[in-house]
Amino acid sequence: MNTVKVILLGDVVGETGRKLLRKNLPLFKELYKPDLIIVNGENSAHGKGITPKIAEEWQELGVDVITTGNHVWDKQEIIPYLKEHTHVLRPANYPEGCPGVGVTTITKNGHTFGVINVIGRVFMGMHGDCPFRKVEELVTELRKETPLIFVDFHAEATSEKLGMGYFLEGKVSAVVGTHTHIQTADARILPGGTAYITDLGMAGSLNSMIGVTKDPILNRFLYQMPQRHEVAVDAPFVMSGVVVTVDAQTGKALKIESIYKVDEDPLD
Ligand SMILES: [Fe+2]
Ligand SMILES: [Fe+2]
Repeated sequence: MNTVKVILLGDVVGETGRKLLRKNLPLFKELYKPDLIIVNGENSAHGKGITPKIAEEWQELGVDVITTGNHVWDKQEIIPYLKEHTHVLRPANYPEGCPGVGVTTITKNGHTFGVINVIGRVFMGMHGDCPFRKVEELVTELRKETPLIFVDFHAEATSEKLGMGYFLEGKVSAVVGTHTHIQTADARILPGGTAYITDLGMAGSLNSMIGVTKDPILNRFLYQMPQRHEVAVDAPFVMSGVVVTVDAQTGKALKIESIYKVDEDPLD
């Protein structure tokens, strides 16, 4: 059987996460021999947003598609870049007229892959149109071209994410959640042949508050006053995501393996 392998990695947080990606991606490539690499970059620039420079660096590292989420607009310089580079996605269900795209196709190793980024609406503030209807429309279009479709659903609520998994079951190769930065232990293949995980996790400092230093966040809970967030820089670190193996002909997922690599060494 002709199969393809795709690595999907969760939100890379700040310089800490970028250093981890630089260090670990060559190892993951060696180990898993992926046909495609998808990484969420919404927190890659100082914890909020992404810059063209980061997107270029990641392309050189071998990242094929960068997904984002609610932090996509935090670094203004990405806006013109998004208009010209379709491998960096913003949520597809953002309002009509927003710069950039939320869906892309890429042909590699003789296979065409479709990648979609959508954002949830539960506990997410004001964010766009219905992700379910939007994704359905995009998947219908993509399936005319390829059955190899990967969806990054950037959302907070487990129920909304699992709902998306069931909604797309049998129609896409994988639905992976991002945004909460803590990897969930529910990676599995849904009955229709769709690989699923509620959240991929992140690349960042492990003893942090989802990648930023814990004290300001604790103070926010304790005193309900605004706090400045700083990206956490101390070891140990975690880098997490999944590797999905898919039947190249049917697009059905055959296997989903979690990547959860804890690194004790300080980063240079
Ligand atoms: Fe994030
Ligand atoms: Fe997010």
